[in-house]
Amino acid sequence: MSSEPTSPQLASGGEPAAPAPTNTNANPGGTADCGPAAAAGEPLIALRHVNHWFGQGEARKHALKDISLDIHPGQIVICTGPSGSGKTTLLTMLGGLRSCQDGSLRILGQELHGASREQLAQLRLNVGFIFQAHNLMMFLNARRNVRLALELHPRYYGQDMDALATAMLDQVGLGDRGDAMPANLSGGQRQRVAIARALVARPRILLGDEPTAALDKDSGRTVVELMQRLAREEQTTIIMVTHDNRILDVADRIVIVEDGHLASPEQEAAFLGRMRDPGH
Ligand SMILES: Nc1ncnc2c1ncn2[C@@H]1O[C@H](COP(=O)(O)OP(=O)(O)O)[C@@H](O)[C@H]1O
Ligand SMILES: [Mg+2]
Repeated sequence: MSSEPTSPQLASGGEPAAPAPTNTNANPGGTADCGPAAAAGEPLIALRHVNHWFGQGEARKHALKDISLDIHPGQIVICTGPSGSGKTTLLTMLGGLRSCQDGSLRILGQELHGASREQLAQLRLNVGFIFQAHNLMMFLNARRNVRLALELHPRYYGQDMDALATAMLDQVGLGDRGDAMPANLSGGQRQRVAIARALVARPRILLGDEPTAALDKDSGRTVVELMQRLAREEQTTIIMVTHDNRILDVADRIVIVEDGHLASPEQEAAFLGRMRDPGH
């Protein structure tokens, strides 16, 4: 087994990644709410023959079709594919925002097929989300927005949540903007506050749905490099949906969703070849 990749490396589908070391961060907020820990070497997330349908009868839509996928701790996975192909459906399932109807979905060692609302809520304590729109509370300053994510976790009760929020803002380069209202921040700064909010409670999994779509090239790059650095430092697993070809190089693995299916390893390789072609 090799060690964790240190440079961007595009693996083909199905290739197992080296299990990354267990969480090595100083973790000032205390240990993560891991629930049942995944056994050593086990993927952090494992899907087997997962299907998902929306609606009933004539209108029933088969949105995810027989998806099998392993994601390992500390990996950065980029998910791409045409609009309407099922990327958001897949991402929300990985984050416990919807239940698994058919097939097996194991996250952090726990089977989530038919999971209860309580089980999904517990899972979500280990997950940070970043959406295309920053979804900040416009009537709260940056620090209070970040703090909100800590207030969900009983283990932070009694801790200095303002100090933890400020320290996280500092990590995203906004340590001196804690008092700023979102309206007074730029788009890139607001998205960095959203990243601080997603990461402040030290989630094991960070999910992004087109997190750079609303940003210009430079701020998009800054945001992605920040996510990459934090993934490496905190051993956070990142799964990010994007159409942004400029950020594919940060991925350890690229997954392509087409009409509800995962593309084959050959299709993934062909896609990567086209992306690497300077004439593209
Ligand atoms: N809540 C929903 N109810 C009904 N159909 C949905 C719902 N969410 C998504 N779909 C349908 O499922 C398919 C996949 O959607 P989605 O996962 O949002 O695709 P993507 O993120 O790749 O654009 C689309 O045909 C979409 O219309
Ligand atoms: Mg989507």
